[in-house]
Amino acid sequence: MEENKLEFSYKSYNSIDELPEELQWLLNEARKVTEQAYAPYSHFKVGAVAKMANGEIVSGTNQENASFPVGLCAERVLLASASSFFPKIPIQTVAISYKSKGHKSDHPIAPCGICRQSLQEYETRIGGAIQLILSGMNGPVYVIDSASKLLPLAFTSDELK
Ligand code: THU
Repeated sequence: MEENKLEFSYKSYNSIDELPEELQWLLNEARKVTEQAYAPYSHFKVGAVAKMANGEIVSGTNQENASFPVGLCAERVLLASASSFFPKIPIQTVAISYKSKGHKSDHPIAPCGICRQSLQEYETRIGGAIQLILSGMNGPVYVIDSASKLLPLAFTSDELK
């Protein structure tokens, strides 16, 4: 028997002011875009904004539905847009923020499990790590070098070959 260990590191900043300028801009866009979410059921509005390798900016927000499982997370709406408008162009960075009605939105949230799976496959199929910037409307900011770090032992297309 062998005991194995998986770990990853990420950067933590006290606030947006400590980030490099370009990342500040992207996070501010993610904070703004939360307003475009359609979240009448959860009142939890999520905004994701990507900087593509060709310099283009693409955004996504969560889109809910009265049939709850139909709803889509901001991250996967963003990935579908990025892949449709700019196929084969790597995503460099994705900033993710949220605004929760009636609650403080003052700490980072990380993508859900399904979105981690989508992000992981986007990285491998197009090539290049997707840097994640995670933060609420204010407060600390986490920076993760590569989305795949959030999904160790991922199930990948290699298994289907
Ligand atoms: N949501 C996202 O858009 N991204 C996440 O990473 C977590 C959750 C959305 C789904 C749903 O519309 C609402 O937030 C509450 O779960």
